[in-house]
Amino acid sequence: MQKRSAVFGLLLWCLCVHLTCAHTEKFSTAVIIKEDEEDFGEEEKAHGTHEAQDPEDLEVFHPTNEWQTLKPGQAVPAGSHVRLNLQTGQREARLGEEKGLKYLRDGQRREMMNEQAAFLSTQKLKEALKKFKGDDTPSEKDEESVRSQFRSVDDLKRDMEALDFLMETDIQIMRKLLSQFNSTGSTVDQRVTALLDLEYLVHQVDNAQNLVSMGGMKLITDALNNTDVRLRESAAFVLGSAISSNPSVQVEALESGALQKLLNLLATRHPVSVKKKALFAVACLLHHFPFAQSQFVKLGGLQVLGELFQVQGADALRVRIVTLLYDMITEKELISQAGKDAGPDSSHQDYLQYAEYSLLPMLAEQGWCTRVPELLVSPEHDRREKALHALLAMMPHCQAQYQQIPSLSTSLSTLQKEYQKLALTEETLGEEDGYFGEILALLDSLVQKMHCEHSERSNCVPL
Ligand SMILES: *[C@@H]1O[C@H](CO)[C@@H](O)[C@H](O)[C@H]1NC(C)=O
Ligand SMILES: *[C@@H]1O[C@H](CO)[C@@H](O)[C@H](O)[C@H]1NC(C)=O
Repeated sequence: MQKRSAVFGLLLWCLCVHLTCAHTEKFSTAVIIKEDEEDFGEEEKAHGTHEAQDPEDLEVFHPTNEWQTLKPGQAVPAGSHVRLNLQTGQREARLGEEKGLKYLRDGQRREMMNEQAAFLSTQKLKEALKKFKGDDTPSEKDEESVRSQFRSVDDLKRDMEALDFLMETDIQIMRKLLSQFNSTGSTVDQRVTALLDLEYLVHQVDNAQNLVSMGGMKLITDALNNTDVRLRESAAFVLGSAISSNPSVQVEALESGALQKLLNLLATRHPVSVKKKALFAVACLLHHFPFAQSQFVKLGGLQVLGELFQVQGADALRVRIVTLLYDMITEKELISQAGKDAGPDSSHQDYLQYAEYSLLPMLAEQGWCTRVPELLVSPEHDRREKALHALLAMMPHCQAQYQQIPSLSTSLSTLQKEYQKLALTEETLGEEDGYFGEILALLDSLVQKMHCEHSERSNCVPL
C-alpha cells in the first residue's frame, strides 16, 4: 500500500509540475505593465482555486492540433504545448507532437518527452486515479496491471530527474526559435510562430536575459521595421514582454534603437492591433526608466501620442496613452521629491535625468489639458478613473485651460451625482473605501482644485 501511495504521490507531483509550469511561471513574473489589465483578475482567481482542487476532480485536457483554452485546474498531458494568451488572459494548449516536440529533435530529449507523454497519457491517468480511489481493495490482478502500467519508484525518480533536466532547457528551445526566426528558409508564418513562442518564454527574467545574450534583441529590434506587418506586430509584442520582466533588458532595448522604431510604428499607418503592441512595448520601455523617458520626449514621443490619441476608432488606445502619461508624471514627481530630499546619490542621478525636461508644461502646451477630459465620456469606470487621475496630476499647469472647457464642469458634476449614488450603494453593502467611493473622492478633489487659486502654502483659496 505504501509503495502504491508513493507512486500515486509521484504521479500527482508529476502532474503538478506540469500545471505549475504552465501556471505560476507566467504569473510570478506577470508583467508589471499588463498588456490587458482587465483580463488578469480572472486568471489569478483561477490560479487560487486550482491548488485547493481535489485531485480526483481533476479534469484532463484533451489537446488537439488547434490552440484550445484550458479550464482552471485542468490537467495537461505531458508534451502538450502550453501558452498564455495575453489578449484574453487565458491559458491555451495544443498537441505537442508537432508543435511542442519539434524543438526537441535531439534524440535523447525527444525520447524522454515521449516517455513522459506516454506515462501521463490521459487514459492511464484516469484509470490510475480510479484505481487509487478510496476503499475497495484492488485484486492482485489489478495490482499487477498497475505495476505494469506504471514503472517502479526508482524508474519514476529517474524520470523526475530527466524532467528537471528538461525544464532547464528553455535556452535550447530559444536558440531553435531564434534560428527558425532568423533563417532565410522560414516562411513568414513560421517566423511569426517563432516570435509568439518566444514571447511565451521571455516572461521569465532569465529567458529575457538570455534573449539578449543570444543576440536576439538585435534580431527583434530589426524586425520592428520589417516589410511584413505581422512580423512588426509580433516583434513589438516579444520586445514588450521581454522588457517588462527585466530592467537590464530595458537598457539593451533602448541601446538597440527600439524606441525610435516603436515610435515610427505608432506614428505611421498601422492596424490598431499593431499600435497596441507598440504602445505596450513603449510603456514597458519607459517604466521606471528616467533616461528612456527623456529620450522619448526628445524623439517627439509626446507629439506622436497626441496624434495617435486623435485617431478615430482608437478608443482602446486612448486610455493606454493617458495611463502612460500619468505614470510618467507621477514617476517624475516621486523622483524629483526624493532628489530634493536626498543628497547626490543614485536617486539623485535619477532626479537629474528626470530634470532634463519638464513634462507638465510640455503636456499643457501640446494640448493634453483639453484632450484628457474627452476620456470622461466613456461609460467605463476604469477609463474614467484613469482620466481623473491624469486630470488631477496635470492640474498645476492645466487649471486655466480646464476652466475654459464649459463641458468639463457639467460632466464633472453629472459624474459626481452618479458616483454619490454608487458609493452610497457600496456603503449600504458594507463596503467602506470601495471603488466607487474612491472615484467620488477623485471627482470631489478635482472639482475643488479646479476652483481654487493654485497655491503652495494653503490648501484652497477660492477664486
Ligand atoms: C542570423 O543570421 C545571420 C546571417 O544568416 C547571422 O550572421 C547571424 O549571426 C544570425 N543571428 C542569430 C542571433 O542567430
Ligand atoms: C529598418 O531600419 C534600419 C535602420 O534603423 C534600416 O537600415 C533598414 O533598411 C530598415 N529596413 C526596412 C525594411 O525598412
